[in-house]
Amino acid sequence: MKKFLVIGNPIEHSLSPTLHNYWIKKNNLNAVYNKKKLDISDLENLIEQVKQKRIDGINVTVPFKNSIIPFLDKLSEEAKTTQSVNTIYLKDKMVIGHNTDIEGFELAIKNINYDVNGKKVLLLGAGGVSPSIIVALNNMKAKKIFLSNRTLAKAENLKKIFNEIEIIKWGVLPDFDMIINATSLGLNSEDTIGINYNKVGSGKLFYDVIYNPSETNFLKSGKKIGNQTENGKKMFIYQAQASFKIWNDLVPEIDNDVMELLN
Ligand code: ATR
Repeated sequence: MKKFLVIGNPIEHSLSPTLHNYWIKKNNLNAVYNKKKLDISDLENLIEQVKQKRIDGINVTVPFKNSIIPFLDKLSEEAKTTQSVNTIYLKDKMVIGHNTDIEGFELAIKNINYDVNGKKVLLLGAGGVSPSIIVALNNMKAKKIFLSNRTLAKAENLKKIFNEIEIIKWGVLPDFDMIINATSLGLNSEDTIGINYNKVGSGKLFYDVIYNPSETNFLKSGKKIGNQTENGKKMFIYQAQASFKIWNDLVPEIDNDVMELLN
């Protein structure tokens, strides 16, 4: 039986097992997908288990997407650029780290037929997922990426990798077509980002990486003033689909049941 895992800390709320086990069953695979809460000191041993073929694949979530890197044999281009790994597998006796968050975000945006080409984007947050979103936005030919983060130094670190981005002071809103919440603000339903959207106007896209709750205060505010909104559910599903494809060599279907599973 193949064994897959998602690791993180905390991990209780991860919906990856629900989604992957649904696809495993649907495709009659002899496999199981579990979640495991780890400490950083457990990472080395875990990767050793991949090498010994006792674990067939791992998804990595907060806070290990970067700290797992020293234990891996090789990174994909996507993982290298973002310094962020969410998918691990063994190939030619080497433990490979890959990033499917980039693909997840791109497919989610394409799924709603939003054309990023030539658009000005304001990205809120410089945490774990932000480099993946920047790469995806560049792939889709965004004209301008503004980055705003409460802690300026973290935004500046990202600018060292992505020199094309422009850093904006936290709380300041430049003119944009699309605004993305990539902070953890909103995970608690009472969270507010504390930005005043009164002058933003309508006809823009408000995108939240968070999908639980399905409508954060950020999305509610955007909607109220006449903007399109989208949460991170499809991004989550597409990044999982890309991992599943790597491990099992088949593309699992995203049907209505899959969309319902995560509600
Ligand atoms: P990490 O920062 O460890 O990478 P993350 O969950 O990937 O963790 O990122 C959290 C993001 O949410 C960061 O951009 C963080 O901003 P800081 O870099 O200033 O910490 C942002 N964030 C979390 N709580 C916040 C708050 N109360 N106000 C503004 N931004 C917040």
